[in-house]
Amino acid sequence: MDATATMEDLERLRAETLAAVAACSDLAALEAVRVAALGRNGSVTALLKTLGAVPPEDRKARGAALNALKDAITAAIEARRRVLEDAALDARLAAERIDVTLPPRPSPEGLIHPISRTIEEIVAIFGAMGFTVAEGPDVEDDWLNFGALNIPPHHPARQDHDTFYLPGRTAEGHEKVLRTHTSPVQIRAMLANPPPLRVIAPGRTYRADHDATHSPMFHQVEGLAIDRDITLAHLKGCIVDFLRAFFGIPDLPVRFRASYFPFTEPSMEVDIGWNRRTGELGRGGDWLEILGSGMVHPKVLEAGGIDHRAWQGFAFGMGIERIAMLKHGITDLRPFYESDIRWLRATGFRPDDVASLAAGLSG
Ligand code: DAH
Repeated sequence: MDATATMEDLERLRAETLAAVAACSDLAALEAVRVAALGRNGSVTALLKTLGAVPPEDRKARGAALNALKDAITAAIEARRRVLEDAALDARLAAERIDVTLPPRPSPEGLIHPISRTIEEIVAIFGAMGFTVAEGPDVEDDWLNFGALNIPPHHPARQDHDTFYLPGRTAEGHEKVLRTHTSPVQIRAMLANPPPLRVIAPGRTYRADHDATHSPMFHQVEGLAIDRDITLAHLKGCIVDFLRAFFGIPDLPVRFRASYFPFTEPSMEVDIGWNRRTGELGRGGDWLEILGSGMVHPKVLEAGGIDHRAWQGFAFGMGIERIAMLKHGITDLRPFYESDIRWLRATGFRPDDVASLAAGLSG
């Protein structure tokens, strides 16, 4: 088209170009239409260049017509561009959409060792009875491990404990030992807090003893309750409730048998019912010793700085491996300490697994 193009020609060019714009389905096609009309060699540009050749009397009207054509095409292209850009954004949002309600992919996770799990369960049950957790060091002062617990230097109980003695002395000039039981935490708890007291103290203990059923390092949990009028009945109630809740057997038979510990008077060992042949816990006709307990000896209260005329209490101690093995039917002690990943996978607990504790805690 040149200077001779008629108004009909311009109208046709306009109609064709707008139709081409409307037909564009993406931004690249739209750009091609823009270049073909308005680019340096575009059809509208070419017409504008011919304006000089138009007779002067027609030039003004011609110029206005060409500008109107150019404006109409420009406006149509811009409108189409916005539509196509919105559509492109919508398509991208749809393609990149994520469903936040999908469950996460399973990821490899660690398992909780049966010892840790058993300690958690013990803490949960005694915690519900109002006990808090106390701790003491593995390297202990032999006064706290023995003397304060009414086990004097040549007491036969010292030989029973096969103690690991360590070089050096404590600040008080006492020998250092790896604690042979968690009972020294009783003294620490009494010295650290005024009565009344209700604490449990789970932790590692050590004895120079090693065979299929003994490890030189093992775990115990100690319990101590001190108040003005604590009696043996409280001890029995706590222990029976604990054992039935822990083993998940509401009618588990529990027997208290007179015994001797230097730090309690009177002392009792506690047995639970089981079937020796099958290993099953409950009314199996046999008895299995499970823990030691008693009323705290006046000398122990005094060593803890507590007036035994105004306060009294009970204490107990039990082996954690033992009750973990009984609860979960684990027959060999050694794998507890071997960190064998296959054993841990078979025996460990998932962190989100809710403990199977009996709802047997009586009011
Ligand atoms: N300490 C004892 C031991 O290791 C267990 C024990 C028995 C702890 C009687 C106590 C208790 O608190 O009263 O064999």
